[in-house]
Amino acid sequence: MLSQQTIDIVKSTVPVLEQHGVTITKTFYQNMFNEHPELLNIFNKANQQRGRQQTALANTVLAAAKYIDNLEPIVPVVMQIAHKHRALGILPEHYSIVGENLLKAIKEVLGDAATDDIIGAWANAYGVIADVFISVEEDLYQKAEANGGWRLFKPFKVAKKLTENPEITSFYLVPEDGSTLPPFEPGQYITVRAKAPGEEYIANRHYTLSQPSNSNEFRISVKREDACDPKGVISNYLHNNVNEGDTIEVSAPAGLFTLESSDNPVLFVSGGIGVTPLNTMLQSIESGRDVTFVHTARNENVIAFQEQIENKVSELNGTYRAFYSDSEGYITKEVLAPYVKENTELYVCGPTPFLETVISIAKDLNIPNEKIHYEFFGPAMTLKAL
Ligand code: HEM
Repeated sequence: MLSQQTIDIVKSTVPVLEQHGVTITKTFYQNMFNEHPELLNIFNKANQQRGRQQTALANTVLAAAKYIDNLEPIVPVVMQIAHKHRALGILPEHYSIVGENLLKAIKEVLGDAATDDIIGAWANAYGVIADVFISVEEDLYQKAEANGGWRLFKPFKVAKKLTENPEITSFYLVPEDGSTLPPFEPGQYITVRAKAPGEEYIANRHYTLSQPSNSNEFRISVKREDACDPKGVISNYLHNNVNEGDTIEVSAPAGLFTLESSDNPVLFVSGGIGVTPLNTMLQSIESGRDVTFVHTARNENVIAFQEQIENKVSELNGTYRAFYSDSEGYITKEVLAPYVKENTELYVCGPTPFLETVISIAKDLNIPNEKIHYEFFGPAMTLKAL
């Protein structure tokens, strides 16, 4: 339990820390990686370079601190982060390293303004926040282990490597130990960890499972990235270096962007590789549900899973619309309006600008927030919701 004095100090110093939030976390990461370079095997270099992880961590600690006397409202955000942490194998001992370095960075950036009382209060508050994450994550580890699952990473053999189009290749993965796979929810992802040739550290990358749950194999569908794009380290490694018969390490399925059970009409809107979770959700739908799929891509050459999606939509007597931005431009309200019905549940996935556009169109079309389901690829911006 935190004392009222601690709570008051923490809440009253949040605005100052918010002002310096990004500097504090940049300092924090620099110090932490100097002392613990092994953590570079866990943290995503691409997100580091773009400063996204810095902002995410700063925002979250500060947002959580605002709710320090009642953490209940931030549980959904904690859950989403905890899924990512669990998929990456983050452990309780990592929280002490983060906590120590975060406090040191606060001291370093605030200088004399960081009194012993302030540092003490933040140490206590961080401890409370970290304990929430640690306990939620332990629960997720136990769930991952249940039903024949596993806790951290496990070797899988590439049983099949299939080119879907010039940019996307699917990998069919079977557990090397011959075990049965645990069930997962359509929309969930697995995390691949590997050390690509020429790289100093292991990198991790999340990939949505691109076919519905079955007990024999996982399938992921991976988009090739520009050769010099650091976020493509694992994707390009899979494309260029991993072949049928090779072994890769993956963690158990995780993630909360899943198809909720409902009889309401469902509208899927995908942008580019964002089609992967939506296709898995679509393929898991049984007859009787009103389904529309708006499938956007740059052009016919790079649209993925078109035949599979069209076939499933037609089996469900639904509506399919391919939308090519090279010829039709950016998606607009006029494109989506005809597909929005009473009680439509919208599921949207794609690159951030696409997502922002579709979400704002959905709001314009009066789809209530609780019926707009989305996931950003990259660190979640869900903190806006706080
Ligand atoms: C991701 C917050 C502790 C490692 C994230 C994200 C947030 C966050 C907001 C982005 C989630 C997303 O992508 O949707 C926090 C908070 C922590 C904490 C508030 C402490 C209370 C830790 C610890 C570690 C860690 C102890 C390990 C040393 C990571 C990594 C990612 C991540 C590796 C993914 C980053 C990436 O791949 O770009 N965390 N985190 N976090 N966190 Fe934490």
